[in-house]
Amino acid sequence: MGTQKPWFELRRSSIQGKGAFALRDIPKDTRVIEYTGERISAEEASARYDDSRAKRHHTFLFELGDERCIDAKRIGNDARYINHSCEPNCEALQEGNRIFIYARKQIPAGAELTYDYQYVIDGPLDAETRALYACKCGTRKCRGTIAVARPRKKLAKPAKRSNAKSSKTAKTTRSKRTASR
Ligand SMILES: C[S@@+](CC[C@H](N)C(=O)[O-])C[C@H]1O[C@@H](n2cnc3c(N)ncnc32)[C@H](O)[C@@H]1O
Ligand SMILES: [Zn+2]
Repeated sequence: MGTQKPWFELRRSSIQGKGAFALRDIPKDTRVIEYTGERISAEEASARYDDSRAKRHHTFLFELGDERCIDAKRIGNDARYINHSCEPNCEALQEGNRIFIYARKQIPAGAELTYDYQYVIDGPLDAETRALYACKCGTRKCRGTIAVARPRKKLAKPAKRSNAKSSKTAKTTRSKRTASR
């Protein structure tokens, strides 16, 4: 069995920077790629990416549910170039301590692959924060921001950070998807 040809290529995106574009039709539920990178603590992630000093947010972080993150900046694969959309055609799912990107619908060749980052913000989703995390997905359902407020239950945790910081969060585990290889 040979290696599966890549499902997408990287090119300039109208959303932001580089994006991932389907090289051929991608069937619904295909496991397109794993989001790989360096596994670091949430504390290390905050030290590496200080949003309070940035005019525009930009990271390659993906939050795992256990105070750990995947940082794809140094040793990540092409999954790190998949942009956010408020009306996405892919979704990120956590399986154990790994993150995979799946097609949530049939994706036609040439379409840009996107998923909803759901950057969780510790702090108010005010105008300043919304500007820092402004969304350029351009869809009808655009929320205007790639961020979401942390659910109230978690805000009650004592270890929360006070300034606006974020990372992508994966949804809970799901199985039985169509694998790409
Ligand atoms: C992991 S990178 C994605 C690849 C990015 N286009 C690049 O060339 O580096 C994540 C960053 O891309 C930008 N980004 C992705 N989707 C976006 C969107 N819908 N609107 C604005 N910026 C976006 C944000 O700066 C985000 O922090
Ligand atoms: Zn949007």
